[in-house]
Amino acid sequence: MMNGPACGRTRTSVLRTWQSWGMAQINPSILSADFARLAEEAKAVQGADWLHVDVMDNHFVPNLTLGVPVVESLARATDTPLDCHLMIEDPDRWAPRYVEAGASSVTFHVEAAAAPVRLAREIRAKGARASMALKPATPIEPFEDLLPELDMLLIMTVEPGFGGQAFLDIMLPKIRRTRELIAKHGLQMWLQVDGGVSASTIEQCAEAGADVFVAGSAVYGAADPAEAVRALRAQAEAVTAQSSWACDH
Ligand code: DX5
Ligand code: ZN
Repeated sequence: MMNGPACGRTRTSVLRTWQSWGMAQINPSILSADFARLAEEAKAVQGADWLHVDVMDNHFVPNLTLGVPVVESLARATDTPLDCHLMIEDPDRWAPRYVEAGASSVTFHVEAAAAPVRLAREIRAKGARASMALKPATPIEPFEDLLPELDMLLIMTVEPGFGGQAFLDIMLPKIRRTRELIAKHGLQMWLQVDGGVSASTIEQCAEAGADVFVAGSAVYGAADPAEAVRALRAQAEAVTAQSSWACDH
């Protein structure tokens, strides 16, 4: 096993060329930010890898947030790439619109997608990273053959819909099994966790195999959000450096 925080690799680009083994990316969720000051709130987490943008339609989840026009404005207001998490019905219709709006990564829920393979290919063809999310009760195993179509898999560690919920540690085995499937297929895809990720839960997620961490309340609820991002990343990378999943390649 190689040692060191990055297993000898370097941060290069946010898009597909990025070699992320051994590195942790922290994506602050603007769901916990002040929606009246989104541009400033984006600047408050300078140094974050991505901004996580939760799109909710009050149908797929019982909450309503923002849509394409807000994403368009936010993309113009920040240099941090946007990671759009679509908690909406009919992502087959809407996800490509979020790429056009300026998102660099678009995540759709498999529970809502009519044709996930076609949708992932369309997102990639439009120039963004394609990502698929699983709610807590959705297993990974039926989707093993779809993994090569994806740049990232998102495992929800709360029921989607609201920030500030408690982390579901019963998701840790699913994270571990997903990381094993990624290794089995020799894929470089990222594994994201979202929901209840904080200083007290991020290490378990990293140890299980996650390498992209969404954090809403843990970042925007902190006195210094940019410092919270750095601290979370350092915690995750310290664990990852010791984890066999990250460095045994
Ligand atoms: C929940 C959203 C999350 C949320 C996470 O459905 O998808 O991105 O903002 O918030 P915290 O980190 O506070 O659990
Ligand atoms: Zn989210």
